Amino acid sequence: MSFPTRRLRRLRRTPALRRMVAETRLGVDDLIAPLFVREGIDTPRPIGSLPGVVQHTRESLVAEVADLVALGVPAVILFGVPEHKDEIGSEAWNPEGIVQVALADLRERFGDEVVLIADLCVDEYTSHGHCGVVRDGEVDNDRTLELYRRAAVAQARAGAHMVAPSGMMDGQVGAIREALDAEGHSLIPIMAYSAKYASAEYGPFREAVDVTIAGGGNRKGYQQDPANAREALEEIRLDLVEGADLVMVKPALAYLDIISRARHEFDVPLAAYHVSGEYAMLKAAAERGWIDGTATALEHLTAIKRAGADLILTYLAREMAELLHS
Ligand code: PBG
Repeated sequence: MSFPTRRLRRLRRTPALRRMVAETRLGVDDLIAPLFVREGIDTPRPIGSLPGVVQHTRESLVAEVADLVALGVPAVILFGVPEHKDEIGSEAWNPEGIVQVALADLRERFGDEVVLIADLCVDEYTSHGHCGVVRDGEVDNDRTLELYRRAAVAQARAGAHMVAPSGMMDGQVGAIREALDAEGHSLIPIMAYSAKYASAEYGPFREAVDVTIAGGGNRKGYQQDPANAREALEEIRLDLVEGADLVMVKPALAYLDIISRARHEFDVPLAAYHVSGEYAMLKAAAERGWIDGTATALEHLTAIKRAGADLILTYLAREMAELLHS
C-alpha cells in the first residue's frame, strides 16, 4: 500500500495561500521610529552613514511625526543632539534642553495620538561620550543613577509618554521608577534596554548624535558581552523586578536567539532594536545593487518578529509603513 506523499508545497502555490497560512505578520503597529532632533540648526541635516535619516530641527521633527501618525505608526523614540556638552551631560535634564522642548512641541501638537518615548541616557550630552559620570577612568554606576533620575523626571514633565533607559547601569530601572513615582509620574511606563550588547553595530548612530567616546574608548565595561546569552535573561529578570513595563533586546538580527529565549521566559511586551549598523549594512548593499533592499528589509523585520519580538525599533519604520499600506 502506498501512502499519499505529504506535500508541503500545496500551501505555497499562490500568494493568497501563503498569506493565509503565514505564521508571522509584520504590521504598522509593530513599528517604533527612532528620530533625532538637533539643537541650533535651521534645516535638517542628513546623516552620511544612515541614508534617508536626518538630524531634525524642531519644526521638521513635528512634520516627520505628522507623516508617521498619518501612516499609523504608533510610537516614536527621541534622541537629542545638544549644542553644548559637558562632563555630566546636564542638557539631558535641562527643561530647555533639546529633547525636552521637542517633547513639549510634539505633545502639544499630537496629544496622545502617538506614543512619545524618550531615550534616557547621557552619552549624547557628555563631552567624553560615556553613558555616565566618569571617575578614575571608569563610569561610576551609582552617581550616574542620580543623573538618570533627573533626566527621567525632566522627560516626563516635558510630555514623554514613556522613558527608555539605555545606559546599562545596574539598578537604573529601579532608580528611575522611584524618581518618577516621587514626582507624581507613577503611570509613566519604562521600556528598559535590558539586554543591550556592546555591539560594533552602533557606529552610524554615534555619527547621528555626534558622539565620540574619549580616548578611543568603548562601552564594554557596562554593555553586555556578545558571547553571553544567559546573562541577558538575568538582565531582563532584574529589570522586571525593578519595575520595567517593557523590555528590549538590542541589536536584533545577531541576537535572535536572545529574543527567542526572552519571549519564552517572560510574559511582558518585548521590543527589539534593529540598530543603525543593521540599517546601514542593508542600505549600503542595496545601493550597490547587491541585494534587493525592500525584500531584505521585509525579511529581516519579519525574522525579528518570528523570533518573538512584539515591537521593533527601526530606521525602516517610515518606509515599511508606506510599503505595508501600499
Ligand atoms: C545610547 C544609545 C545607543 C543607541 C541607542 N541608545 C548607542 C550606544 O550605546 O553607544 C544605538 C542605537 C543604534 O545604533 O541605532 N544612548
